Amino acid sequence: MAEIRESKAAVQTSEAQIAVHWREEEYFYPSSKFVGQANLSDPGVNERFSENNFPECFREYADMLSWDKYWHTTLDTNDPPFWKWFVGGKLNASYNCIDRHLEKYKNKAALIFVPEPEQEATVAVTYQELYVRVNEMAALLREFAGLKAGDRVTIHMPMIPELPITMLACARLGVIHSVVFGGFSGEACGRRIADSGSRILITADSYYRSGKMIDHKANAQIALDIAKQEGQPVDKVLVWRRYRGQYGSKAPMIEGRDYFVDDELLKFSGRIIEPVSMDAEAPLFLMYTSGSTGKPKGCQHRTGGYLAYVTGTSKYLQDIHPTDVYWCMADIGWITGHSYIVYGPLALAATTVLYEGVPTFPDAGRVWRIAERLNVNIFHTSPTAIRQLRKAGPDEPAKYKYHFKHMTTVGEPIEPEVWRWYHDVVGKGEAVIVDTWWQTETGGFLCTTKPAIDPMKPGSAGPGAPGIYPTVFDENNEDVKAGSGKAGNICIRNPWPGIMQTIWGDRDRFVDQYYRKYCKDSKSKEWHDWPYFAADGAVLAADGYLRILGRVDDVINVAGHRLGTKEIESACLTLPEIAEAAVVPVVDDIKGRIPEVYVSLVPGIQPSQEIADKVTKTIETIIGKIARPRKVHIVPDMPKTRSGKLMRRVLAAISNNLSTGDITTLANPDIVESVREMVQGKESVVVKDGPDDLKQFGGVE
Ligand code: WTA
Repeated sequence: MAEIRESKAAVQTSEAQIAVHWREEEYFYPSSKFVGQANLSDPGVNERFSENNFPECFREYADMLSWDKYWHTTLDTNDPPFWKWFVGGKLNASYNCIDRHLEKYKNKAALIFVPEPEQEATVAVTYQELYVRVNEMAALLREFAGLKAGDRVTIHMPMIPELPITMLACARLGVIHSVVFGGFSGEACGRRIADSGSRILITADSYYRSGKMIDHKANAQIALDIAKQEGQPVDKVLVWRRYRGQYGSKAPMIEGRDYFVDDELLKFSGRIIEPVSMDAEAPLFLMYTSGSTGKPKGCQHRTGGYLAYVTGTSKYLQDIHPTDVYWCMADIGWITGHSYIVYGPLALAATTVLYEGVPTFPDAGRVWRIAERLNVNIFHTSPTAIRQLRKAGPDEPAKYKYHFKHMTTVGEPIEPEVWRWYHDVVGKGEAVIVDTWWQTETGGFLCTTKPAIDPMKPGSAGPGAPGIYPTVFDENNEDVKAGSGKAGNICIRNPWPGIMQTIWGDRDRFVDQYYRKYCKDSKSKEWHDWPYFAADGAVLAADGYLRILGRVDDVINVAGHRLGTKEIESACLTLPEIAEAAVVPVVDDIKGRIPEVYVSLVPGIQPSQEIADKVTKTIETIIGKIARPRKVHIVPDMPKTRSGKLMRRVLAAISNNLSTGDITTLANPDIVESVREMVQGKESVVVKDGPDDLKQFGGVE
């Protein structure tokens, strides 16, 4: 009971609620010091990247790369919506991120690894050393693992330098890497191995998190069992060790299958592997993400367009120069890490920082100590991390002598109040902020301000990035007018080089998911007829800035990480006791949203704490700890429409102490009251208005 009251208070005063009662915020302007040194300060960029100059405007990004062969067609629209970029061009991503920098920067740090234990020294890997290590690993992958261009390889690793080294070694050979976030469970990894058809798994023995050594290799056996069950055998498991020569896992090494990478690499010492010249359209990697059905989608990204897009946006919007020390706190296992820790910054010869652990470990000053010690001047993180750091130590940043010129926020809507703390306290009033809205599917930023050109507005992502033409559509395919205050579905009217090629192995799903809804003519080869549907709600202000409201589909954004409600529900249904499951998002002051689970039991089974615990455990095993529900409610029945559809919207309202709205048309309205009483207690305080994405949630029903 006490717990329920507490959560009620939290919902009513949460910052997410403040965001709902959003008003026009005042502009903030970049300092002249920032503008003076910025890569992009010429307002002419708006004309250069205007629709009149599309698609050739994107040559500007592609020309930042070194091509083995120049392309003949910038954009090929012959097979919509499977756009092709820089057709005829050839290049290698690892060459672009390493080799071409050696002449000028070989002795400069490419990566700086910061281990979580603070007494452990940081490790700087220079461009020369990165070159050597990537070449040796590429030799191992080709000759020991038998991998060649076009093969897929699954990489399930924590944040250690060997992760980007492995990715770049794959890229050197044209091998398609599929990195699975280290925090995902062995089962989740296994399903991704099977879907991608990988015969090799690359993993690590252990890593530090919150002061504890995590046994990571233990996941490999589970992953392999699941992959095999799904028809995909794995030949070899390559295991990196956190400390060379020292095995930090209790899981047995299986002879003839498992190999220590550090041992095997000795045989490839000093080997140089020519980078394989790849077609611009050859896939570079797969990144799985959650969608509205249970099965994760493998977003397939191309080599040329993707690399050009992340390089261009890193240069212009992150303002990365080769002299900068850049720290993005995301995990490389998510798209943000791929685009804006590895590929973008390295293509620009920057120094990119990798931090192994938890931002508040061992205390609230850790992040700022790292920033001070490494002289970080560009900082990139998520609203969840900002909220966590603010809660843990609101006055900590002032104690450290770092200075950021530029800061990014990504992954979730940021509340204006939190934005202001980021600006005033973390950025010390000196740093420019970009709020970048984008997705796994989109490769790079879609909406953001141009840091030296556009003023910032707390809580708004800003206008389209250069060459991106966003619009907000209503359900009748009409543009929602700027400044009308009405929410709609944000779409991108045009193709861009960073957009994924397709969903791995599922062309139809790609079209259905992103293009079917607003396609004007499915026979047309004109890109104007194929707007990209992002599945986010948004409001377009009179100044052209977009405020992102959140997902309009069955995806919950937990701490900036995407989880499919259907995925979590399927996990619950693997338990024989469970008849039905419904997962809803609940507002959380730190993580934005957390899943809450409702289950009904098969006849004859009595509700018990044990079953609730089992549900939680199963979700953790099948997906990972990030999907752990706040609560599991065992209910006598689920609210349903007369046609038998489960009304998640009603359950979401109950969990968030919102009004359930009109329920008279339900097949079983009485059940709503008994579930409400169970969850909220007899006298509930219902708040009238709630976050927009909760209102939209379940709108499809
Ligand atoms: C949300 C992460 C508001 C959005 C790069 C999107 C945001 C989903 C922002 C994609 C932002 C991302 N403001 N919401 N600046 N950035 N989102 O695929 O709902 O992990 O659809 O990519 O995160 O999450 P994903």
